[in-house]
Amino acid sequence: MARLNLLEETRFEKLPVSVFENPQKASLSVAQRIGNLIKEKQKNNDIAVLGLATGATPVAVYAELVRMHKEEGLSFKNVVTFNLDEYYPMQPDAAQSYVSFMNDHLFDHIDIDKNNINIPDGTLNLEDIPAFCLEYEKKIGDVGGLDIQILGIGRTGHIGFNEPGSAPNSGTRLVTLDDLTRRDAARDFGGKSFVPTKAITMGIGTIFKAREIILMAWNRKKASIIKKAVEGEISSEVPATYLQLSEHVEFILDEDAASLLTRFDTPWLVKDCIWEETISRKAVIWLANFLKKPVLKLTEDDYNNNGMAQLALDKGPVYNINIHIFNKLQHTITGWPGGKPNADDSQRPERAEPSKKRSIIFSPHPDDDVISMGGTFIRLVDQQHEVHVAYQTSGNTAVWDDDVLRFVEFSIDFSEKMGASKPELNTLYQDMRSFMEKKQPNQVDTPEIQTVKGLIRKGEAIAGARFCGLEDDHIHFMALPFYESGKNQKNPVTELDVQLTMDLLQKVKPQQVFAAGDFEDPHGTHIVCFNIIIEALKRLKKTESWVADCWVWMYRGAWKEFETYEIEMAVPLSPQEVEKKKFAIFKHQSQKDRAVFPGDDAREFWQRAEDRNRDTAQAYDDLGLAEYEAMEAFVRYKF
Ligand code: F6R
Repeated sequence: MARLNLLEETRFEKLPVSVFENPQKASLSVAQRIGNLIKEKQKNNDIAVLGLATGATPVAVYAELVRMHKEEGLSFKNVVTFNLDEYYPMQPDAAQSYVSFMNDHLFDHIDIDKNNINIPDGTLNLEDIPAFCLEYEKKIGDVGGLDIQILGIGRTGHIGFNEPGSAPNSGTRLVTLDDLTRRDAARDFGGKSFVPTKAITMGIGTIFKAREIILMAWNRKKASIIKKAVEGEISSEVPATYLQLSEHVEFILDEDAASLLTRFDTPWLVKDCIWEETISRKAVIWLANFLKKPVLKLTEDDYNNNGMAQLALDKGPVYNINIHIFNKLQHTITGWPGGKPNADDSQRPERAEPSKKRSIIFSPHPDDDVISMGGTFIRLVDQQHEVHVAYQTSGNTAVWDDDVLRFVEFSIDFSEKMGASKPELNTLYQDMRSFMEKKQPNQVDTPEIQTVKGLIRKGEAIAGARFCGLEDDHIHFMALPFYESGKNQKNPVTELDVQLTMDLLQKVKPQQVFAAGDFEDPHGTHIVCFNIIIEALKRLKKTESWVADCWVWMYRGAWKEFETYEIEMAVPLSPQEVEKKKFAIFKHQSQKDRAVFPGDDAREFWQRAEDRNRDTAQAYDDLGLAEYEAMEAFVRYKF
């Protein structure tokens, strides 16, 4: 039976949800609960039976349990574990196996008896799987059932590997993975084609029998599936919705994963709000979109019937509110991203003075500058600002091997033709070829291959920046060391990353910094690059007076645009500018046709950029503002 929920604020939520400020705090609380359970059981000479999950979500929980073991003496001698799932087929010693995952993150660092660890066996013959699954269920029952089951959630809504279509009473079994799940796993395996198509997973029915179920989710990427799981109708389309039927479940979320729940996304529908500027703007735009009306046509009734009566009362009459929001939106639009010289700038996004600004466009990968803000880049140069572009990383993991051969072959041919052939080049080339022939998925490239890949992207970035009008000495390649692991998993950020960034900032002393504030980038590189810039600026601020006049504008990469209510500067692009931007993106030939890491969007980067910029213009048009061809959007970050 579904839960009775008497709280107005959470009335859309069909199961208990706790929201933490960040994943770290949430993970500590989950680890604490597990630790307490283990200790409680120890006191009674009992065993604790844990159901465990793998994936990115529980990593910090395991790290905290390891810490509790090492620093507080928490013992796992009385613990029996059952993992949710394992890929099939899968050798336990493979890097991607869930056996390796659990050993690396937990089991190798605690005092658990290895005989007490249970993980579905990915090495079985097909015909032996049903008996194994029955035995797995029986084993759980024999030790008294799961005391606690922790879960992550996939973007398909899967729990364990119970993909859409799974039955609520399903048991442990062999399943076929959803295409989206395989795409999400592609990076770990070095390409989707290497991700197994099947897995052995505990069933929904198995999970349900646990005495306590904790589902954890972090990150904006999970927000929309969390909304469905928590507020949606129970359906096999989203298997996690079955958890609404449990009496023992709790969702533990960070603020980002919770951000689309009604109480956070559209709070006026569930409680009285304090109608400050941002929420008023968000609500009015939401209302206009919801009713498909331009802002200036919203009426008193529209406000009253949609949870916004209080706003109408506090700030009305509603026509004044409409005009106020309309004007605010209007003032975000500017063709002068570096400020309009000699103009009244009191209602403009950027300052008029100094009329010639020094601007640095930081680009995490070598193509984010043109993909995300190519039109604005060109305008800034055309409007005679001193524009610099700084490519923060080499982007050398995202080039195909055959492109490497092509470029090295070119170098050999060219040097021969010029009478300057170098035998070492031929040897290098042969080494590369033989390495590539034997290369395993996800294997780290040789340093030479990494170098060529980096150079290919460097050449493309130069071509793109020149196309936008930059002089060569305004194009900077930072090759931040954190990125140079050769793998998807990057190195930790060090002082050197921050120092290199401080050096460039100090050299240019910019009045404007453009940075990728694109925290949903699936590679995680953008947020790391962003944080480095902010750290560098914060440190410089202590001694350098120019920093006080340096504004940081965030743009978003190829993945997701800002919400309309957030946008503080919208730079319109004419049809010709859209075309020109496309050509700048085309300079990145190694990323064309099929990028190595396209994410889960099949479109090419230039198509995504065009669609996105058109959508932003459309969103303004729908609200009743002028109709532009396309728009690039920015939000100011105050540090
Ligand atoms: C893992 C599992 C999966 C993951 C889910 C989320 O054992 O069964 O359901 O919990 O795919 O994965 P992450 O945490 O990597 O986002």
